[in-house]
Amino acid sequence: MLEIKNLKVGIYGKEVLKGVSLTIPDGETHVLFGPNGSGKTSLLMTVMGYPQYKITGGSIMFNGRELNSMPIDERAMLGIGMFFQRPPSIKGIKLSDITEIIKAKSGTRMDPAVAAKALNLEYLMPRDINNGFSGGEIKRSELMQLFAQKPAFMMFDEPESGVDIENMKLIGSKIRNLLERDVDKTQRTKSSLIITHTGYILDYADADYGYTLLDGVIKCRHDARKLFEDIQHNGFRECDECLNTK
Ligand SMILES: Nc1ncnc2c1ncn2[C@@H]1O[C@H](COP(=O)(O)OP(=O)(O)OP(=O)(O)O)[C@@H](O)[C@H]1O
Ligand SMILES: [Mg+2]
Repeated sequence: MLEIKNLKVGIYGKEVLKGVSLTIPDGETHVLFGPNGSGKTSLLMTVMGYPQYKITGGSIMFNGRELNSMPIDERAMLGIGMFFQRPPSIKGIKLSDITEIIKAKSGTRMDPAVAAKALNLEYLMPRDINNGFSGGEIKRSELMQLFAQKPAFMMFDEPESGVDIENMKLIGSKIRNLLERDVDKTQRTKSSLIITHTGYILDYADADYGYTLLDGVIKCRHDARKLFEDIQHNGFRECDECLNTK
């Protein structure tokens, strides 16, 4: 269970999150909508523990432990993982190397060869991580690393951006597997927070709830698909007005 209370975050002096609260129980998938620059990536980076994102108020709890000042690697060891919007490329470390390292650290029993075949990236395994990878290849590489880690709580930052229709099917179905969406909710061990602009991921991950983040503040919490349809019809402004009138 992830519990964020009244979280305030600044980056290089700019306040990007202005009191965000949300709770994601075990087994649930929640999605985050919001305009460009509203603070979505900043929220995920803060939960993962990137030190540039300075917490100025509030708390992040994961399974009863406070994360606020915990380093990234400890959070990863606790079972938090992230699929990045723009991961760095790393020269000198092959995708196969990092997969083995993550697998060993996390103690998962995945078979890298089987996962590489399933993700259609066998040809990328001997290459340096993300170095010269296409947009879609980077997304599959991010998934490979999550398969190696199998974290209990996964954050996905725009997993569908720049992905072609066929790869969307592949990525969507693999995310569905990772999140155990076909397992009965009472037996499910994974939970997730997904950022999406296009909503395509909802066809695969059938999220439990959705939120709208506007200028660093959560303005709405609703059934994910219903919220997405409302945003499509009325834009984000409606979310703002909706909550203001309640
Ligand atoms: N390293 C940084 N230096 C300065 N400003 C930053 C930095 N990182 C984020 N910001 C600012 O914080 C704000 C929120 O950025 P963030 O990346 O969280 O937005 P987002 O909601 O993920 O947007 P998008 O939908 O475009 O990905 C933006 O105004 C951005 O410019
Ligand atoms: Mg972003």
